[in-house]
Amino acid sequence: MTIILKTERLTKKFGGLTAVDHVNMTLSKGELRCIIGPNGCGKSTLFNLITGTYKPTSGRIAFKSKDITGKPVHIIGRMGIGRKFQVPGIFNQLTVYDNIRVPFFRDQRRSLFLKPRKDSDIHQKITALLQKINLDDKACLPAIHLAHGEKQWLEIGMVLARRPQLMLLDEPTAGMTAAETRKTAQLIRNISREEKMTILVIEHDIGFVREIASRITVLYKGAVFKEGSYETIQSDEAVRKIYLGKSR
Ligand SMILES: Nc1ncnc2c1ncn2[C@@H]1O[C@H](COP(=O)(O)OP(=O)(O)O)[C@@H](O)[C@H]1O
Ligand SMILES: [Mg+2]
Repeated sequence: MTIILKTERLTKKFGGLTAVDHVNMTLSKGELRCIIGPNGCGKSTLFNLITGTYKPTSGRIAFKSKDITGKPVHIIGRMGIGRKFQVPGIFNQLTVYDNIRVPFFRDQRRSLFLKPRKDSDIHQKITALLQKINLDDKACLPAIHLAHGEKQWLEIGMVLARRPQLMLLDEPTAGMTAAETRKTAQLIRNISREEKMTILVIEHDIGFVREIASRITVLYKGAVFKEGSYETIQSDEAVRKIYLGKSR
């Protein structure tokens, strides 16, 4: 199996606090992986290291066998790592359709000297994407009028439009209703299966993790505490103690 992402002894310190502590993690191409762990255990910091937002204190990160340690955000983004933040970064005044169109225009600008893609091609791609994220019937609505869950799906669509090879999702179901959470789990599973995209998702909701049924990495105090299937993790006494027994 091809390895797409590998961290080696990845460490980030903030003054005296070690937020990420010698993390060794390997992600295979096409894999869907959940990262769980109590609040403040370093999940978002790990994402910030992978995307180049923070520079590690020590350790290395390789993406597609290339060393990306300490590289700037835009370079890592261009290499194929896409990220969705906890707070949606959508354009409220634009329609749902135009929100999805934005990343396509950015791509066009980058390839100024190449033959521009036909508008009809882009339209087709946008329509297919809107169907995938279940927002095709809301294409003409300004994004501000979407429900909370729909805004999150729209942003997943915007990340998808850039066709990353690795997609990072930081708590995509935060603040969602139970029904929205279930739908989001289905959406992410579909993207993983149909697009064959590698997805790394930080999640708090254990119902979501069960639904996704992927391999799980448990972080605790910045370090990898346990890794395994949902069943393995769920039945692990030590994991239960640090995490599963507690609510949000
Ligand atoms: N920019 C920062 N400066 C200082 N401390 C930080 C910074 N970002 C995160 N931390 C600290 O690092 C630890 C891990 O935070 P974080 O990665 O956000 O945890 P999680 O996403 O698992 O809830 C926390 O103790 C947090 O307060
Ligand atoms: Mg976080």
